[in-house]
Amino acid sequence: MKQQLDQSQPVHLSPFRSQVLLTTLLTFFLLPAQVIHAADSAPTFSNEVVRILQQNCQSCHQPGGIAPMPLETYQQTRPFAPLIKTNVIRRVMPPWHLDPTIGIQEYKNDFSLKDADREILVAWVDAGAPEGDPAMLPAPVDWPNWLEWELEPQLGTPDMVFETGPIAVRAAGGDFWPDIDVPWPALENPRFLKAAEIRNTIKGRRALHHNNVSLRLEEGPSGRVVGAGAGKRWDFFGEDTGIRFEVGPGLINFGAHYFPIGEEFDDNIEVAFWFHPEDAPPTTEASVEIHHLIDQFDEGQARGRDILIPPHGTQTMYRTWVLDQPILLNSFRGHMHLHGIAMSIEIVWPGRVRDYYGPGANRRDVVASINNYNHNWQTSFVFADDARPILPAGTAIVMRTHFDNTENNPLSIDPDQWVVFGGRSVDAMSHFHVSVTYLEEEGYDSMIKERRQQLRERMERDGNYGTAILSIHPDERAIVENGSEIAAQD
Ligand code: HEC
Repeated sequence: MKQQLDQSQPVHLSPFRSQVLLTTLLTFFLLPAQVIHAADSAPTFSNEVVRILQQNCQSCHQPGGIAPMPLETYQQTRPFAPLIKTNVIRRVMPPWHLDPTIGIQEYKNDFSLKDADREILVAWVDAGAPEGDPAMLPAPVDWPNWLEWELEPQLGTPDMVFETGPIAVRAAGGDFWPDIDVPWPALENPRFLKAAEIRNTIKGRRALHHNNVSLRLEEGPSGRVVGAGAGKRWDFFGEDTGIRFEVGPGLINFGAHYFPIGEEFDDNIEVAFWFHPEDAPPTTEASVEIHHLIDQFDEGQARGRDILIPPHGTQTMYRTWVLDQPILLNSFRGHMHLHGIAMSIEIVWPGRVRDYYGPGANRRDVVASINNYNHNWQTSFVFADDARPILPAGTAIVMRTHFDNTENNPLSIDPDQWVVFGGRSVDAMSHFHVSVTYLEEEGYDSMIKERRQQLRERMERDGNYGTAILSIHPDERAIVENGSEIAAQD
């Protein structure tokens, strides 16, 4: 096991820092203990509220979960009522930070709060957070042990597990970035990875804010396989998709990042792999996460030479990736530091418009916008199968990042300072990670045909195409909507 400081690794805040903030806020906002009389129709904890908490919050807010406080009983929840209201209104909690009003909204791992549930939580707080009749309480949820593999109930015992061995986490001092290699044994045949999960100790989860596992082969492709961050431990690539692992040998690399939490302990990080059966390979092959450095325009160029955020100022940067081969876009994940507040991914489709939209206009769509970015959360957004964008060669993917060094950004520590690129959280950084499947032209054509069919079936079933319609070229949309291929070729 090798440990070294790697200053190029990004930095994250521990949830424990937020806990200090939380205690301060509570002192200001704590409601009087007596229950204000609510209108009869007001939602109560025992009836509506606890059910919403069970479904949307307790996976993290339970003893042993990653969140600082449990939200299981009325007594535990009541003091947090005002903070619950502000956090759900601002979409800080649950930590799903996509703009719900633009782009594709269909994700396999969507844990956002439904509007109706948000309204109930707010109405409950506004009514004085009444307890209601305890006889209406549902049975408490028996949360799975956080030390189990989350994917095991669904996928069975993992095919391979690797671990780092003890990692000494110190009690105090600054962030540190252990970098650990374990040998990857040669396989008999290449295999397709179906899913991967990372786990570590409960204490370790509070101190570890991200951990990226990469496969580094002596020969063949190398790259990141799975990344864990707060609230995210696994990637499931789908029944029809897999990452191709070449035979090897090589190394499995764990790139971890810890923030000391005031206690000294040994952590241990494990990664589990589930493969597609050898005799039933998946129909499509996904790349390992491709790492786009928005803060570096060209290979070999100095990193971040264009990040320069003035005091009380903002800055927007973007990077464009023009596809020379069709792709299927499986997932994306943004990474910035404290000054990062938004990231978006936009598509400029190839081919001029038939109608006049302005000089040289190509049609474009915003695929998604992480408009509530928070440095503490590194969520990977995994498209639902029939919402994965199918992009032809010539498409330009524009990845945009926005930094805010004004008082409006609560994480900007000292807006009087200039901010430049760097590895510490007080410096700026911007990465965009995507996982794609490269397609040949025939693969593109057959996938588009299949998608048209899926969208038509959706229309029959739901009466609309949902936001999945944005996943195909506007000409293809016309074909789907008109029900025939001739319609689009006027
Ligand atoms: C994926 C895990 C996760 C889910 C789901 C989640 N939380 Fe949290 N929550 C956290 C963590 C971790 C913190 C500590 C602050 C941080 O790191 O952002 C937190 C903090 C909070 C806080 C205190 C924020 C502060 O200012 O310190 C409130 C209130 C809260 N959550 C309410 C909720 C509610 C209500 C839900 C469901 C509607 C919810 N959370 C869902 C993980 C989660």
